[in-house]
Amino acid sequence: MEQKRIWAFGGGKGGVGKSFVAGNLGILLAQSGYNVILADLDLGGANMHTWLGVNSPMKGISEFIGREVHNIKKLLIPTDIPGLSLISGAKDGVEIANLKHTQKRRFISALRRLDADYIVIDLGAGTAYNTVDFFLLADSQVMIVIPEPTSIENAYRFIKNSFFRQIFHNSQNFGLKSVVTPILRKDNPHNVNTPKELIDYFNKLGGRATVFIEEQIHSFIPKMILNQVRTERDQMVGPAMKKACLKYFNLDVKFMGHIAYDESIRKSVLERQPLAAAYPDCVPIKQLNKICANLLKDEKEFAGNNNILSKLAL
Ligand SMILES: Nc1ncnc2c1ncn2[C@@H]1O[C@H](COP(=O)(O)OP(=O)(O)O)[C@@H](O)[C@H]1O
Ligand SMILES: [Mg+2]
Repeated sequence: MEQKRIWAFGGGKGGVGKSFVAGNLGILLAQSGYNVILADLDLGGANMHTWLGVNSPMKGISEFIGREVHNIKKLLIPTDIPGLSLISGAKDGVEIANLKHTQKRRFISALRRLDADYIVIDLGAGTAYNTVDFFLLADSQVMIVIPEPTSIENAYRFIKNSFFRQIFHNSQNFGLKSVVTPILRKDNPHNVNTPKELIDYFNKLGGRATVFIEEQIHSFIPKMILNQVRTERDQMVGPAMKKACLKYFNLDVKFMGHIAYDESIRKSVLERQPLAAAYPDCVPIKQLNKICANLLKDEKEFAGNNNILSKLAL
C-alpha cells in the first residue's frame, strides 16, 4: 500500500447509518488484512465505542486539541478486531464546538502520520463547519443517505454546503478570495444559491476564475451509499439522486451501492456485537462488502488519475 487513505462518512441527517457503515467498513478492511484506525469525529455524540463494544474512552480529540495529549498515538484504543483501533471524539466538549481550521488540519495531519493503511472517519449529523471541514479534509468523501425525503433533502444540502465550503477554502490559494467572499454571503447580490449558479458565475468571470472552478468541480466528487433500503423503488433513489446532482448542481456524485433495511443491525447494537464480526454472512454485510470493494476500486482509479486531478491543499 503506497499511500495512507482517509475515508470520511457523513451525509447530513442523523440516524441514517453513518456510524453503522463506518464502523463495519472499518472491520471489513481490517479483516482484509489492512491496518485500520476508526476516528469517531461525531464531536457532540461520539458513540463508535458502543458500536464496537469497547468501554467508553477517557481521552480523545478534545485532549489533543487542548494539547493535554501531545502524541496522538496515546489516543488509540485497541478493539477486539485484529488490525482495528479506535480514536474517539470523546467528551461532549463544548470547547471544540467551534474548532479553528488550523486545529482541524493539525488533527488530520496527526492522524495521517499514524501507522495505518486506512483511517475511517465517522462524522456527526448536520452541516456545521466542523463536520463539513473534516469531510473535505479526507481523501475520499462518502455520504450515507436513506430513501426518505428528509434524508434526501439533507443530503442535497450537505453536498451544496460542502462544495461552497471547499470553494471558500481553496479560493484563498488561488487569489480569488475577494471574489468568493461576497458570493458566499446569504444576502449575496448575485443570486448565487446553488452549486450550478456558483459554477455559472465563475465561468462568466472567465480567465483564472474558470480554471479555478473547473479544478474544484473535478476534485469534488462525493460518493454515496443508500442505506435502509426496503423496496425496489427505494433502490432507485441512489441513481436518481446522482442524476439530479448532475442536472441541478452540475456536480458528479458516485453511487457506491445500497444496503437493505435489516433488523439484525439494531440487534447488533443492542448486543454490542458489531455485525461484520459476529454475522459476516448476513445480507447487509454482504452488501457492505460489495460497497467496500467498489470504494477500493474507485480509489485505485483515482490514484491512476491523480496526476491530472490536482486537489488544492485545503
Ligand atoms: N440498514 C439498516 N437496517 C436497519 N436498521 C438500521 C440500518 N442502518 C442503521 N440502522 C439503525 O439506525 C440506527 C442509527 O444508525 P447510526 O449508524 O447510529 O446512524 P448515524 O450514525 O447516521 O446517526 C442504528 O441504531 C440502527 O439500529
Ligand atoms: Mg453516528
